[in-house]
Amino acid sequence: MPFEPEQPKLYGELASWFHLVSSPPDYAEEADFARKLLTEAGTAPPRNVLELGSGGGNNASHLRAHFEMTLVDQSPGMLELSRSLNRECEHIIGDMKTVRLGRLFDAVFVHDAIMYMTTEGDLRQALDTALIHCKPGGAAVFMPDVVRETFVSLTTHGGHDGEGRSIRYIEWTFDANPSDTTYTVDFAYLLREGDKPLRVVHDHHVFGIFSREVWLNLLRDVGFDPKVVPDPWGREVFAARRIQSR
Ligand SMILES: C[S@@+](CC[C@H](N)C(=O)[O-])C[C@H]1O[C@@H](n2cnc3c(N)ncnc32)[C@H](O)[C@@H]1O
Repeated sequence: MPFEPEQPKLYGELASWFHLVSSPPDYAEEADFARKLLTEAGTAPPRNVLELGSGGGNNASHLRAHFEMTLVDQSPGMLELSRSLNRECEHIIGDMKTVRLGRLFDAVFVHDAIMYMTTEGDLRQALDTALIHCKPGGAAVFMPDVVRETFVSLTTHGGHDGEGRSIRYIEWTFDANPSDTTYTVDFAYLLREGDKPLRVVHDHHVFGIFSREVWLNLLRDVGFDPKVVPDPWGREVFAARRIQSR
């Protein structure tokens, strides 16, 4: 059986805490940036949008005012959390590498979940899934946290207070081997729940990292006409149009 790395605790046993790590209102500006790209990248503004790796539904909570959203994620806990925020959206369990819904959407969106594609083969499969679900002339927007050229090792911290529970975390991104296609993101979470003793949990995420050229070549190979768009937060994202015939 192929080796499947364990899913991060944040999407498993800690999924119900996700909105205290990453709060939906904090996504308003980024979702608006994505909305503009989704609206402008295709031949016509989209009516329905498929999001792959939709997580807690934070982006979707803003995008759903503009588009009919179908949300796919591989984590049951994250889908449940997203449902609590985005009741009117369709939620489907699936792996972005292999899911096949058997229908076409006006546009496809993949936000930071694309970082979990850790080999060129995985990335190609995810881009292929996006293409297969995108109608000819439709838009596809991919928003990786970094490309190889923009990677910097960072330490950040954050967290929010919820009803009866709070989280604070430190996050450390580190690339032990710049010649391979991965880097690591380690989190130390401090979890406070009512008057229970504070809990400390370590979580290890492995992210994929690819050069701008690899991204563009793979996008063209699978059948998109892509361009690189700098975003207001220093990232390079990819806005693409599905070419008419493959
Ligand atoms: C950081 S969260 C995404 C948050 C999202 N951008 C939002 O707006 O809430 C990353 C998500 O990617 C999902 N994920 C990771 N690998 C996946 C895969 N192969 N297929 C589908 N979902 C995947 C995880 O389950 C997790 O929910």
